[in-house]
Amino acid sequence: MTINLPKTMKAIRFHTYGGPEVLQLEDVPVPNVQAGEVLVRVHAAGVNPGDWQIRSGLAHRKFGIDVPLPTIPGYDVSGMVEAVGLSVTTFQRGDAVYGMTTHSAAYAQYTIADPSHLALKPVSIDHIQAAGVPMSAFTAWHALFARTRVVAGQTVLVNGAAGGVGHFAVQLAKGQGARVIGVASGRHEAFLRELGVDLFIDYTTTPVEQVAHDVDLVIDTVGGENGDRLLSVLKRGGMLIPTTWGQYSASQAASASLIVEDVVLLLPTTAQLAEIGKLIDTGSVRVEVSMVQPLAEAYKAHERSESGHARGKVVLRVME
Ligand SMILES: NC(=O)c1ccc[n+]([C@@H]2O[C@H](COP(=O)([O-])OP(=O)(O)OC[C@H]3O[C@@H](n4cnc5c(N)ncnc54)[C@H](OP(=O)(O)O)[C@@H]3O)[C@@H](O)[C@H]2O)c1
Repeated sequence: MTINLPKTMKAIRFHTYGGPEVLQLEDVPVPNVQAGEVLVRVHAAGVNPGDWQIRSGLAHRKFGIDVPLPTIPGYDVSGMVEAVGLSVTTFQRGDAVYGMTTHSAAYAQYTIADPSHLALKPVSIDHIQAAGVPMSAFTAWHALFARTRVVAGQTVLVNGAAGGVGHFAVQLAKGQGARVIGVASGRHEAFLRELGVDLFIDYTTTPVEQVAHDVDLVIDTVGGENGDRLLSVLKRGGMLIPTTWGQYSASQAASASLIVEDVVLLLPTTAQLAEIGKLIDTGSVRVEVSMVQPLAEAYKAHERSESGHARGKVVLRVME
């Protein structure tokens, strides 16, 4: 079947590292789908801290992560399969899909993805919500079910509980029957209690280590230099999984036989996205989208994400 695609599309690009103002709406060629790839007509693109960490040059300076300039940012996508390359058998034109782009290029009307990082979109949510799921939910899911296996009765503390990763971690841990401690500022308390948090700690008024103790697993989505206070809430033999860079004392960890995992960067597989989608469709997990911006105003979405205080997810509406 011949598909008539436009030659150009609207996309957000940046030509130099810098502040949110370097994000420009431009006309660029529609990418050609190659063998083994899928061309997705993007309906919505999710915004993750990694997007602005790359745009600002922070990821380059701190971790040596380079992108070719100019670049179209964004990994999380939800949309419709527009075309499939040779040898793709798992999806077909017209499928509603969600997942991650292959080379960070989701802030555009069309993007290329590897089908092994896509799944059918959960039917109970729209594209805006679905675009908020892949990276954050997978990071939480991977921490709780792949790096360890949380079981009923354990206590899980989520630092940064109201954020993209945190709000999924709270729900996934709760779904396993864990007792969940959520750490966030006071304005998120009602939201987090609704998601099932058993004990809420407002980090702006109460030091975590004064209230929490005997914790089996800490998921730290905030990181930074004062990680040792989080080690002190763990029970002997407990585990801390950071999703970002943090400083944790090796000797303090060793003295209480604590396990501090490394930060990993992974893309979800179709099977993992499908499993997360099932949890969404059965109502066990919901996605909180606190801000939606049109593609042209991606800079506003980055400003919000970069503030470090967004609730749940920030999403770009690409298809009006
Ligand atoms: N390794 C990976 O594959 C991977 C994947 C996804 C994310 N990450 C990283 O993980 C980190 C979190 O990602 P995210 O998407 O969850 O970020 P996010 O959505 O931007 O997180 C924002 C949340 O962090 C909370 N927060 C800020 N300072 C806090 C503090 N001192 N104590 C407790 N909560 C605090 C905010 O709550 P308040 O408003 O209450 O301050 C806000 O709700 C980022 O650094 C990201 O780059 C890594």
